[in-house]
Amino acid sequence: MSRHALSVAVIGAGMAGRSHAAGYRQVNTVFGAGLPPVRLAAIADPNTALAEDAARRYGYEKAVYSWEEVAEDPTIDAVSIVVGNDLHRPIAEALIAAGKHVLCEKPLAGSLEDARAMAAAEQAADVVTAVGYTFRRSPAIAAIRDHVRDGALGELTLFSGRYWCDYACDPRGPLTWRFRGGPGSGALGDVGAHVIDAAQLLCGPIVSVSGGILATQIDKRPLPLGAVVGHAMAPVSQETGAVENEDTAMFSARFRSGLSGSFSVSRTAFGMPNGLALDVYGLAGRAGFDQHRPAEYVFDDTQPDPRTRGARQVIVGPQAPYFAGGYPMEAPGVGGGNAEMFVYQCRAFLDQIVGTPDPLPPNATFADGLHTMEVIQAVVRSAQSDGAAVPVPAS
Ligand SMILES: NC(=O)c1ccc[n+]([C@@H]2O[C@H](COP(=O)([O-])OP(=O)(O)OC[C@H]3O[C@@H](n4cnc5c(N)ncnc54)[C@H](O)[C@@H]3O)[C@@H](O)[C@H]2O)c1
Repeated sequence: MSRHALSVAVIGAGMAGRSHAAGYRQVNTVFGAGLPPVRLAAIADPNTALAEDAARRYGYEKAVYSWEEVAEDPTIDAVSIVVGNDLHRPIAEALIAAGKHVLCEKPLAGSLEDARAMAAAEQAADVVTAVGYTFRRSPAIAAIRDHVRDGALGELTLFSGRYWCDYACDPRGPLTWRFRGGPGSGALGDVGAHVIDAAQLLCGPIVSVSGGILATQIDKRPLPLGAVVGHAMAPVSQETGAVENEDTAMFSARFRSGLSGSFSVSRTAFGMPNGLALDVYGLAGRAGFDQHRPAEYVFDDTQPDPRTRGARQVIVGPQAPYFAGGYPMEAPGVGGGNAEMFVYQCRAFLDQIVGTPDPLPPNATFADGLHTMEVIQAVVRSAQSDGAAVPVPAS
């Protein structure tokens, strides 16, 4: 291995950890030259079987069983943090102190206090700090962002975003870290963070929210008897524990531009495995995306011939961002989805570290991640005050 290789590690070998592990494997197969060889150094997880399995399958040199081993390894340059949200802050702070570049999963932290501390640490750091808002790397969402920026939709009039999932519908599902933490750390923090970030990518910063509603449909769950990966079912005890956060949330938002938007998120929406969807309307056009059909989007604009007016299905291909150079087979209509988005996210992170000549758009910063957490906490305060309007502090 060249001594100029960039050494990467992944902390957390669970559901999303393996997506990061797979992502780094492919960063030098996509887009232009410019990255040095990437050394897949280590995967850390106290679940030793999971860590070893992930290291073997994704070609990492070794499995380690604590994040501290990664922080203390002087040969490791860049690290993804892919563990429960309460652990993001201590791990990020230790990695930054050790001079390592950090790509932290969303939401930025388990609490607003932690997120503020991480944003402050970012300001003092001279390493790259990034947040894993993976949907920024969707070719279809990025194409919609370009339509908005080009003015193709005219003046924006309405945003609608939802992230409806069904992973918490079954009351026999174990009480994992996702169900712990205060209001805002449930569906809002878990999936809502993604759609809030996507909304702000398309329409600019949110400055206030109102009409907040939080609801929990299943208020206790059985304790797991062992390790659980992601949303998987697992052996559980007869004993139950309280669900501490929301299954469902709704709110309205005002963007800095004056645009208004409506949002709803849920982890108890039956039949919706991964339903992030959004629509942007303007005076002269509209665009819509649904993650259940990730390789296409709907586009409509003013067309001179009334006989052919109407929405059209745009199949993403080399005309869309990320597509050219981002797929082995660069032909329109070959599909694409979640796994590629993680590759592009990892590639963008390493582009930022190396300063490649033709980089992908940079990742969200810790400051961006803090702003999304401020939106989430404003929704919580709105819900606690009968839906009152609550300003979102600029971060
Ligand atoms: N960007 C996305 O699309 C996306 C998707 C899913 C999850 N996520 C985020 O990724 C993070 C992890 O979510 P997940 O679904 O993979 O969780 P998970 O529960 O499947 O996996 C978390 C892993 O962390 C490990 N872990 C616990 N303590 C640890 C420690 N001290 N050191 C190292 N590892 C430790 C656990 O053993 C587990 O294997 C969360 O922040 C979540 O919000 C992002």
